Amino acid sequence: MKTWHKIIFGDCRNMEEIPDGSIHLMVTSPPYYNAPFDYPGLFENYEEFLGLIRDFARELYRILAPGRIAVYVTDDMLVNGEKFPVVADITKIMRDTGFRYRDKIVWKKPEGYTRISRRSGVIKQHPYPMYFYPDNLQESILIFQKGEFDYSYVKQLPSEIKERSKINLAEYDEKKWNLTVWEIVNVLPLPGRLEEGVAAFPEEIPRRLIKLFTFVGETVLDPFLGSGTTTKVAKELGRNSYGYEIDLELNPMICKKVGVEQSTFTEDKIETTIRKDAKKLRTSLEEKVKKQKSVTKAGLRVRI
Ligand SMILES: C[S@@+](CC[C@H](N)C(=O)[O-])C[C@H]1O[C@@H](n2cnc3c(N)ncnc32)[C@H](O)[C@@H]1O
Repeated sequence: MKTWHKIIFGDCRNMEEIPDGSIHLMVTSPPYYNAPFDYPGLFENYEEFLGLIRDFARELYRILAPGRIAVYVTDDMLVNGEKFPVVADITKIMRDTGFRYRDKIVWKKPEGYTRISRRSGVIKQHPYPMYFYPDNLQESILIFQKGEFDYSYVKQLPSEIKERSKINLAEYDEKKWNLTVWEIVNVLPLPGRLEEGVAAFPEEIPRRLIKLFTFVGETVLDPFLGSGTTTKVAKELGRNSYGYEIDLELNPMICKKVGVEQSTFTEDKIETTIRKDAKKLRTSLEEKVKKQKSVTKAGLRVRI
């Protein structure tokens, strides 16, 4: 099916390119609040991060179609030994903005894929009470809804669209989509990988959500596009998409991932817009990450 994709480099607090009530699903993973190995110092403080989510949520309410779903993939964040309650705060902001809190799924990553902190080793050096710090193996998939969905919409869809959007129940059962715990292998942003330096989610997450919450030909939004995973999957599944990304330095990565060059030979239309509020972030963030790593290697005390 012929699809279209609009990639906009700019701040998603303003999504003026999108008409009111025209988005059928949002799937996104906002920047992990000042995550030491991805976004060190991106925000001045936690309030600034929450301010972004608040402003963005208002704009999201405007563009999401009635009854439709908005999903955040995120988790509480440990920064300099302090845990920030991102999941609780995003849930509160979304509810205050008018969305219903519909569900939470725990995304369980395989053991051995713990990337950032192996805090559990502390107790091996000090096998006494009070030295317990668990390694994090999970993220939250937070599902919100704008009011109630009108199921008569499904009845009036052309039978071809319904047929092509049908959920494969064998896959649903086999991969246990029915549970509130989804076991999915994560993307490690290792050197040399396309997603290097971007905390990308695995394609399986937007793939499941797009199949579960949209019909073929509908429109998906990722306001924090990163490497372009959501756009890539939306295109593969015959859905249209909008993606916003503030960091212009990710342009080549996104173009490669979503296949901008190949699209000239297919029926899909991909359009890229660079707004004045786009920034250049990746290089300076990478410099900060490198500095942190060299401090860690030098054996200086790092707070757990
Ligand atoms: C966790 S990453 C998203 C990764 C993405 N899910 C993927 O699979 O590649 C979050 C992204 O949000 C971007 N970002 C941060 N603030 C933004 C804003 N105000 N508007 C748009 N994008 C923003 C960051 O530059 C970063 O690329």
